Amino acid sequence: MTRIYLDNNATTPVHRDVIEAMLPFYRESFGNPSSTHWAGKSVKGAVEKARMQVASLVNCASAEVVFTSGGSESINTGIRGVAAARRARGNHIISTLVEHSAVFNSCRSLEKEGFRVTYLGVDSEGMLDLDALASAVTEQTILIAAMYANNETGVIFPAHEIGAIASERGVCFMCDAVQAVGKVPVDFKSLRANLMAISGHKLYAAKGVGALIVREGTQFRPLILGGPQERNRRAGTENVAGIVGFGKACEIAEASLHYEGERICTLRDRMERGIEATISDVRRNGHPIRRLPNTSNLSFGNVYAELLLEELDKKGIAVSAGSACSAGSREQSRVLSAMGLDGASMRSAVRISYGRENSENDLDCLLGLLPGMVKKIRNKG
Ligand SMILES: Cc1ncc(COP(=O)(O)O)c(C=O)c1O
Repeated sequence: MTRIYLDNNATTPVHRDVIEAMLPFYRESFGNPSSTHWAGKSVKGAVEKARMQVASLVNCASAEVVFTSGGSESINTGIRGVAAARRARGNHIISTLVEHSAVFNSCRSLEKEGFRVTYLGVDSEGMLDLDALASAVTEQTILIAAMYANNETGVIFPAHEIGAIASERGVCFMCDAVQAVGKVPVDFKSLRANLMAISGHKLYAAKGVGALIVREGTQFRPLILGGPQERNRRAGTENVAGIVGFGKACEIAEASLHYEGERICTLRDRMERGIEATISDVRRNGHPIRRLPNTSNLSFGNVYAELLLEELDKKGIAVSAGSACSAGSREQSRVLSAMGLDGASMRSAVRISYGRENSENDLDCLLGLLPGMVKKIRNKG
């Protein structure tokens, strides 16, 4: 059976060169980077090289890169760590209604511990109102936690403007850049964020590795306590192979970001035009321009997304309904709901997220099957 993977916002296939880079660290280079003998020294060097590769992709100093187990850990550390470190200054946090659960649930947990959180809404295109953000800042505000790009719709937030408001008002900014890094250029220096979360498996590295970028001088309380690894910012023997692969993936992303971004954007636009030309009653969710090059979020009128996903899966085509975390749980999408979609449009929303391994052939295959499947489901309903 054909297998077409169009769910690259959930995770990406590990790049062949990334696997090659990782393998020696499961075999001969097995040392602990903290060891001072030969087995540790070369491994430590490899971790430091990866740190530079990550730093180069997002334009930060390599000392600002803290390796973690992935996006969720980075976000939990960023939010809970800053809240703990700045509690004496205030107890107010600002976030948005469309954040990934890692941000949303970190904020919810802090509410139970006495923090006050303002969750800002978005407009019908998923965009944040900067005036509302600026007005929400009070003397008590210690942290703004907001994303760079949305995992469900691909909408790109005005992250630089958020960074400017935060730094002008002396508030920490934790940016969840998990879906943006590797897809669009992300420049930590000019972003004026204090912390930024990245995840390896969203950019063709392995699962279980990521980074928290911490601007020099930003105070936070580490989440994982133990040894002095990562300059006392994240304890635990490093996931060396994962980190080395993550570094390689960042190097590959940096070298190919522009042309891959353009190629994938062309695929996305062709797919959307093809769908709109052959299927009636389709609506595109999210800002038409300020969005990732690789994400389409489409509501097919009178089609239950889960049924369409099942039909596609039978043909070996993987796409998703809403975000990966809410898929299967039958929960309504918090993101689409915040954008004001009605129940029917939310239930019929499908996310197609393209990636490095997709080709024109994949598009032709999906475009050849979709109209018939949609018609079949509509006729049954
Ligand atoms: C926007 C966003 N933030 C955070 C995460 C969590 O990252 P990880 O899977 O590495 O924990 C995801 C994963 O889907 C995401 O899309």
